Amino acid sequence: MIANVSVVVPAAGKGLRMGSDQPKQYLPLAGTLILERTLRKMLALKPANVCLVVSSDDDQWSNLESAHRCLIAEGGDTRAASVLSGIARLELNEHDWVLVHDAVRPLVLLSDIKHLLESVSDDGGLLAVPVVDTLKQANDLDEVIATPDRSRYWQAQTPQLFQAGKLTRALQHASENNLEITDEASAMEAAGFTPKLIAGQRTNIKITTKEDLAYAEFLLGTEMFSCE
Ligand code: CTP
Ligand code: MG
Repeated sequence: MIANVSVVVPAAGKGLRMGSDQPKQYLPLAGTLILERTLRKMLALKPANVCLVVSSDDDQWSNLESAHRCLIAEGGDTRAASVLSGIARLELNEHDWVLVHDAVRPLVLLSDIKHLLESVSDDGGLLAVPVVDTLKQANDLDEVIATPDRSRYWQAQTPQLFQAGKLTRALQHASENNLEITDEASAMEAAGFTPKLIAGQRTNIKITTKEDLAYAEFLLGTEMFSCE
């Protein structure tokens, strides 16, 4: 069990796929802004610190009640740059554990985060869910050329949990080599580590498009989230 953890919440994205007039982390979800919901959940873990990473032109973060209980860092052009900025702000030691959680995954369950903190290995770990659909590999013409063995594939989520020193070096290595990094685990893999997959919930969605907002609102009204 990891007893002392710090949290980075990267929230410096533009939310282009949502197509709304403001970044998606500032959209309301059942009456409370998405980012406020996410920060409340991270603070409920009673971590050493939470660092909220926002864009330099963000004029909304200071209106969030929970942001005043967080450290603030300035984001970068890529997610990796934003996460590196957050880790630097936390001034962690090599072996300190840092949990990185998307600003736009407000539906993660605290019980799953605790499970991650209990089950992580030295190479780190992440919440994920086994793929349920049959997978198809396509050629350039969108023709099927293979059906990979579904049982080996998982969908990665956040939180993702790593030791600060290893993660910092892995993200720097990925940035310097222009590797396409969409999560922290992929940077760790590229650096030779094997992070552990911890099964979470399919309901821990990353709010990305308009339809996700309606689905998240529906989920919040269900029994599973009655204590939220
Ligand atoms: N993020 C960040 N800094 C960036 C890019 C993304 O902090 N330069 C954050 C987002 O704010 C979000 C998380 O990383 O909390 C996951 O990214 P994603 O869902 O892709 O969000 P956006 O990049 O904002 O959305 P889009 O890709 O549709 O533009
Ligand atoms: Mg993005």
